[in-house]
Amino acid sequence: MALVTAGRRFVQVTLREFSRRSTAAASWGAWRTAERCFSAGTPPLRSDNKVTVNFINRDGEKITVKASPGDSLLDVVINEDLDFDGFGACEGTLACSTCHLIFDEDVYKKLGPVTDEEMDMLDLAYGLTETSRLGCQICLTKSLDGMVARVPESVADIRQSKDGSA
Ligand code: FES
Repeated sequence: MALVTAGRRFVQVTLREFSRRSTAAASWGAWRTAERCFSAGTPPLRSDNKVTVNFINRDGEKITVKASPGDSLLDVVINEDLDFDGFGACEGTLACSTCHLIFDEDVYKKLGPVTDEEMDMLDLAYGLTETSRLGCQICLTKSLDGMVARVPESVADIRQSKDGSA
């Protein structure tokens, strides 16, 4: 009986620790993105200081929204409640590549450097192009006003591939 109780206690402690670490990892990834966006020289936010972003969805439909400098493109999709199936599955923690977006070359050149972590995840994206980036890693600046971001035809979520569910 004591052995069963000890086993249950071990499982409870292990699950609690796993949950705590998972939450911490997700928070850390989101914090890094927020920190990078903030340090990209974002000017103070004002209501007339919006950036126009044009998304082309999988059906070829153009969706134009206004967003704040400093927001990531994942923030924009979430804030505007845009229905891009499967987009942003890992909530910006660089663990899925479902936020893959394709840009025109002139816009791509303005997006800032690609980190090694983003490059690793981009390699797993469906339909990768020379001007692909992950939307959760793109911080809006006024210089991106009027940008076009194309949502690829499909998404690849590495997390599903790892557990065999896709
Ligand atoms: S939302 Fe998962 S990598 Fe961007």
